[in-house]
Amino acid sequence: RIAYVNGRYVPHQSARVHVEDRGYQFSDGVYEVCEVSDGYILDRTRHLERLDRSLSELAIGWPVEREALGRIMIEVAARNRVRDGLVYVQVTRGVARRDHPFPSADTRPALVVTARSTDRAAFAAKAEEGVGVITVPDTRWDRVDIKTIGLLPNVLARQQARDAGAAEAWLVDEDGIVLEGAATNAWIVTGEGELVTRPAVSGILRGITRATAIDTAAALGLTMVERGFTVGEAKAAREAFMTSATSQVMPVVRIDGAPVANGYPGEITRQLRGAFFAHAE
Ligand code: PDD
Repeated sequence: RIAYVNGRYVPHQSARVHVEDRGYQFSDGVYEVCEVSDGYILDRTRHLERLDRSLSELAIGWPVEREALGRIMIEVAARNRVRDGLVYVQVTRGVARRDHPFPSADTRPALVVTARSTDRAAFAAKAEEGVGVITVPDTRWDRVDIKTIGLLPNVLARQQARDAGAAEAWLVDEDGIVLEGAATNAWIVTGEGELVTRPAVSGILRGITRATAIDTAAALGLTMVERGFTVGEAKAAREAFMTSATSQVMPVVRIDGAPVANGYPGEITRQLRGAFFAHAE
C-alpha cells in the first residue's frame, strides 16, 4: 500500500509524521473520509468544501491547492488499486515546538492521504440484515460541526457499542434528543412514512451522505423533515437507519437491544439505499 505524506508517495508501512506534529500532540487538525465506489470518489467536491470550512474555522491554511488535493486523492486511490473502499485525508496545523497557541505563520500544515479497499460483498450482506445501535449521552464539545481529529468521546462511544454487540452508538443530548452517531448521522421513518433527521445547524456534523440522502429522498418523492427526535420516538419508529461515507445508508434494526418494528430493514430505507448511488456526485 501507498500513502501520501507531505508531498511524497511512500510505502504505507513506513509513512511517518514528526512527534511534534500538532495533530499528534493537540488533535489540532481536521479530516475527511470519502467513499470510493467503482473506482470513483463519491461527492469529492462536497468533501473538499467541508474540509475548506473545517480548516477555516480553525484558521489552518490549505497545505496544497484545493484542486491539487482532489488530484492527490484520486492518485492515492489509484496507486492502491481501490475500486471499492475509502480515502482518508488529514490536515494538521503542522510541526512546531509544543506550545498551545498557534505556531508562527510560516509553519506548514501537514497533509496525509491514505486509501484502502473494503469488501463490497460483506458490506452488502451487512446492509441486508441491518445493524444494532445503542444510545449514550453525548459528552462532546460544542463545535462538532468541525470535522476535527479530536475524536476521543466518539472512540469511547463506539467501543461501548462494540462491547454491547452493536455497530454504532447514538449520542443523545440532555433533552433526550438523538443528535447523531459516533461517526454517522441518525435517521428514523415515522409511522406516517416521514423521514426525520436532526437539523445540522449545530450540534452535529453536516454529513455529506446525509446531504445526498436528502437529495435522494426528494427525488423519490419521499417526505422528510429536519427536526430532533427522541430516543423513545426512535424505538417506536417504523424504520431507522444511519448514513456516512463508511456505511452509505445502513438500516438500523435494533436500538438498545430491542427490535425496531419487526427487526428487519424497512422499505423506505431499502428504497433510499437502492437509489442512493444515482444521486451521489
Ligand atoms: N465519520 N457524524 C459524525 C460525528 C461523523 O464522524 C461522520 C463521518 C458523520 C457522517 O458524515 P459523512 O456522511 O460525511 O461521512 C456524521 C467518518 C466516516 C469517520 O469518522 O470515519
